[in-house]
Amino acid sequence: MTNKAKILIVDDNVDTVELLTKRFHAEGYDTSEAYDGEQALQQVVEYQPDIILLDIMMPKIDGYEVSKRLKSYDNTKHIPIIMLSAKARVPDKIKGLDLGADDYIVKPFDYRELSQRVKYWVTVKVEVEERLTKIRQLEKELIQSERLAAVGQTVASLAHYVKNILFGLKGGVYLVDEAFKENDTDSLKDGWDLVESNMGRISGLVLDLLEYSRERKPEYEKCFPNEIADDVCKLTQESAKEYSIEIIKDFDPSMGEAVMDPKGIHRCLLNLVSNAIDACIYDSNEEKKWVVRVKTILEDDGMVRFEVSDNGCGMDEETKKKLFTGFFTTKEGRGTGLGLLNTQKIAQEHGGTITVNSQLGQGSTFTIRMPYRDVATSGATGKED
Ligand SMILES: Nc1ncnc2c1ncn2[C@@H]1O[C@H](COP(=O)(O)OP(=O)(O)O)[C@@H](O)[C@H]1O
Ligand SMILES: [Mg+2]
Repeated sequence: MTNKAKILIVDDNVDTVELLTKRFHAEGYDTSEAYDGEQALQQVVEYQPDIILLDIMMPKIDGYEVSKRLKSYDNTKHIPIIMLSAKARVPDKIKGLDLGADDYIVKPFDYRELSQRVKYWVTVKVEVEERLTKIRQLEKELIQSERLAAVGQTVASLAHYVKNILFGLKGGVYLVDEAFKENDTDSLKDGWDLVESNMGRISGLVLDLLEYSRERKPEYEKCFPNEIADDVCKLTQESAKEYSIEIIKDFDPSMGEAVMDPKGIHRCLLNLVSNAIDACIYDSNEEKKWVVRVKTILEDDGMVRFEVSDNGCGMDEETKKKLFTGFFTTKEGRGTGLGLLNTQKIAQEHGGTITVNSQLGQGSTFTIRMPYRDVATSGATGKED
């Protein structure tokens, strides 16, 4: 490799360049040349030298600047630079080395010395490159093994969750069996309820998993954001009432028709409202009158804001940190821990964001902001992609 190494010779003195070119060719090196700093930078990109001999005093960009720039870029910083200069004073050398030169040779120089140094630096470069390749390979392997560890963890959480459902199903089937034997319709009803609720959990899990695993582009179409929010409130009203939780609608009347992804928004809001209801159910403060508020706001900057707040149990700092992690749930055996992860995914795919504000024992507010397009200006006639 040493003898085929490529040397870029940079000097505004044509005689020096010619002399060095001849000498290095005789030694079997490949060379290219540049006569000022600008050419030098260009040649580094085009020629991709293994080593650079760099004069300091040159028109346009001087050697110090060339060295400084090359050492600041990731893909050129490992190319050794030997500065060649008539500037023999110690401060000049120090400046050169400070700005990234690897070596400094004073003109007039002894060619044999220069040749030795070039040989040395070419070996160094080969070694550095070999190590870099090795490090990159190791980095790749590390990422791969981290990914496998994450998959392993996911599978473990999933297995745990499915096991819980299975227990529920078995319990239900047992009750039904016994009820048949005893001809006891009350137990039959209990058993069947247990079977049904666990079937619900399986289908919820599968839907959440599918949602999370597929790349989904928003399906933009004309819709009324307030109507979507209203539908979510209607869907959850019944189960809220069961626990004496009031759902309050607070919709911005200036919100008209917009071009957005109604199905995605619906899923997000349903996740947030279900969580808000759960937060009230899990609240231990029986004195409270629980309220879930669903708010829509049309903002000036082309964004729609959806806010879902509750005065339920709130969250501690630990929970807040883990909110958007897959399979994180505090609802032992009842939650998949995928709801917020999916909500965040959908919001982001829609070019939006989700934020949270919460106080332990006081309640939480989740806010989604999404860009909307005006029906009048978007020219949309119906579905588009
Ligand atoms: N409104 C809320 N109030 C309090 N805690 C919440 C609220 N929303 C989410 N959380 C917390 O975040 C966790 C993850 O929520 P999510 O991803 O929807 O999964 P899941 O509802 O299945 O547990 C919940 O288990 C709960 O601890
Ligand atoms: Mg949830």
